[in-house]
Amino acid sequence: MKTLIISSSPRRDGNSIRLARAALEGAREAGHVTELVLVDDYITSFLRDCRICRNETGDCTIDDRFSELFLDKFVPSDGVILATPVYWYGMSGQLKTFFDRTFCYYAASCPTSGANSEGMMNKRIGLLLSSEETYPGAELGIVHQVQEYCRYTHSCFVGVVRGVGNKRGDVDVDPCRPLEDAKRLGAELFDRLTTDYRLDTPRGGSVWA
Ligand SMILES: Cc1cc2nc3c(=O)[nH]c(=O)nc-3n(C[C@H](O)[C@H](O)[C@H](O)COP(=O)(O)O)c2cc1C
Repeated sequence: MKTLIISSSPRRDGNSIRLARAALEGAREAGHVTELVLVDDYITSFLRDCRICRNETGDCTIDDRFSELFLDKFVPSDGVILATPVYWYGMSGQLKTFFDRTFCYYAASCPTSGANSEGMMNKRIGLLLSSEETYPGAELGIVHQVQEYCRYTHSCFVGVVRGVGNKRGDVDVDPCRPLEDAKRLGAELFDRLTTDYRLDTPRGGSVWA
């Protein structure tokens, strides 16, 4: 399966990318086709007003590499692992901008919106977080946003790993061993049981039997 890992901290050698590299290793060892990208290498601008920004054929004219990231890497992937530092109890501006910019490609005013919308759907999604604080509430805004993204795109939110650290490399010595968890998430992205019951979901008594 194709797994894209998107790291979104401006620190190219910080904690998020360490978690991302561990997930990459796990996915590779599990035999998946994997690639790790940094948002900063592709995106240099926020979303703009599409009415002003689109050219005469309806295409986005923001002059950076977002379309390469979105069309050549994100759309063809079967699974995506997002790595972000916790910034003000939310995701990094880079990762938020990645999601915002998809609008230019799925909005009805885009000539290929149908295919692009379809290409955003039905993925397996993992989340890697780095934060200085340890308390569980610090990640909730990001987890909620990714959960809603998954619901909206019929994607499947497989799991979250959080590494605690502040200085570059702190996550390496986090006693909860988030690098090992990130590696396992990469390896198991397509295999983990994921459930989201409704009252009438047929199910047996034991989850693992
Ligand atoms: C602008 C900014 C905002 C931050 N906000 C938070 C926060 O709300 N909660 C927290 O636990 N850590 C916060 N941090 C700390 C980072 O999440 C932490 O240093 C993380 O390890 C950085 O990951 P990176 O090395 O991938 O950049 C913030 C750091 C910055 C630079």
